[in-house]
Amino acid sequence: MLSASQIIDKYISFFEKHGHKKIANSPLIPLNDPTTLFTSSGMQPLVPYLLGEKHPQGVRLVNAQNCFRAQDIDEIGDNRHTTFFRMLGNWSLGDYFKKEQIPWYWEFLTKVIGLPKEKLYITVFKGFESIPRDEESEKLWTEILSSEGLDPKEKIFSYGAEKNWWSRAGTPKKMPKGEPGGPDSEVFFDFGTPHDSRFGEECHPNCECGRFIEIGNSVFMEYIKTESGFEKLPNQNVDFGGGLERLLQAYENQADIFETSLLYPILKTLEKITAKNYKDHKREMRIVMDHFVAAV
Ligand code: ALA
Repeated sequence: MLSASQIIDKYISFFEKHGHKKIANSPLIPLNDPTTLFTSSGMQPLVPYLLGEKHPQGVRLVNAQNCFRAQDIDEIGDNRHTTFFRMLGNWSLGDYFKKEQIPWYWEFLTKVIGLPKEKLYITVFKGFESIPRDEESEKLWTEILSSEGLDPKEKIFSYGAEKNWWSRAGTPKKMPKGEPGGPDSEVFFDFGTPHDSRFGEECHPNCECGRFIEIGNSVFMEYIKTESGFEKLPNQNVDFGGGLERLLQAYENQADIFETSLLYPILKTLEKITAKNYKDHKREMRIVMDHFVAAV
């Protein structure tokens, strides 16, 4: 079995093998970015380079970045959210694009980590206003899944800007002028847990019932918000990010992030010092564990 730190090593060395340079983990309190209190994704320290500045380490970068998402704090208590996590990230600054990123990520998940491919689901961008549907990603995924003997019609789902567009500010409408963003393609892991109909009639990758979790997001960051809409950035960039803790959940086929090998020892300690059972107090104990980890 791989540990969380072995998964980080495998991710970094896989992308190093594909010509990426490892960049340092930035502090959680951003150094030169007054727009945000915390570093909340791997791309945040890279914004000037995604906008076109030359990065001293080149055009292919990789790292594992400590992240804190204050905006997710009200989600804590479910089976998959944590405010603090480590984001595995790889970037192309105007170098490779979709036809390299998508097959590499699939190879990493299924061959390097060995996730069962039948449990993986894909989402792609279906278009929004003047920004077209991401047909290229859809075609690439269709080819990969077909070559693996999987039915792309059952595995690929498309969503609009609410789900398959990424920028620091969220959907295209929420982005301030000068902000980079783009369509994204996400991979979800199916734990096969029963669907909870409180979240809708049918289950699907972006259903909130907890059966599916997103384990990685390839953002094709090629747009910048302008006064009147969107323009293309000077470069077609890739901004990939996937939570280590979520990948570990998939690897261990553990539908509860707090019961993975990384967080379970904290759960056991909390049970001991409170003399309470986790199964009777899941939500409260998840909140305590999450906030404890994040505070440290
Ligand atoms: N920046 C992208 C995200 O945080 C990868 O999901």
